[in-house]
Amino acid sequence: MRLFVAVNLPDAERRAVHAATAPLREAGVPVRWTDADSLHVTLKFLGEVEAERARPIGDALAAAVLSVRPFEVTLGGVGGFPDLPRAHVIWVGVEHHPALELLANDVEGALRPFGFEPELKPFRPHITIGRARRDAARGAMRPLAALADGLDWAGMTRVTSVDLMESRLGGGAPTYHVVQRAVFGGGE
Ligand code: 2AM
Repeated sequence: MRLFVAVNLPDAERRAVHAATAPLREAGVPVRWTDADSLHVTLKFLGEVEAERARPIGDALAAAVLSVRPFEVTLGGVGGFPDLPRAHVIWVGVEHHPALELLANDVEGALRPFGFEPELKPFRPHITIGRARRDAARGAMRPLAALADGLDWAGMTRVTSVDLMESRLGGGAPTYHVVQRAVFGGGE
């Protein structure tokens, strides 16, 4: 199974992100937009993993967050990888909160014994809201830059757990399923 570790947003925040970014979807650019239900912050992509390893991985994540306290992060700003005018991935930004950085480190630490090496690239927390279609022409994403400037939405979300997720690739858009939730044990 294809696995990754993510922070899933509560329903209300998913809907808020989706609604705030509606003007981008109306721009008619060649993008596969993410459904509201699929919005998340990836902490670590694991790729193809044997099904019987999912449980021990999920248990290791649960143990790793036992002393983590819930925290709040700000969401907002639209950008792209490598940048918005040339975007392959279009995202809503997630505040670079030290607690989120520590959480990503805890996840890396929990996964290392399973043979997953830490990322070499710096952690850039984001919520992917769309991916450019393969056949998108050069410059096709340029209209998004001006539209993004006009969006001044900001939100907030409380992070209380991380999820081991499965990504199922079918004919259409991938669907994401919670395999095991690791709820933070620290705090109140
Ligand atoms: P994203 O958050 O930037 O969109 C499930 O597929 C999640 O894992 C996606 O949200 C995606 O990141 C991430 N992902 C998919 N394929 C990946 C890859 N080859 N390397 C790193 N992350 C990947």
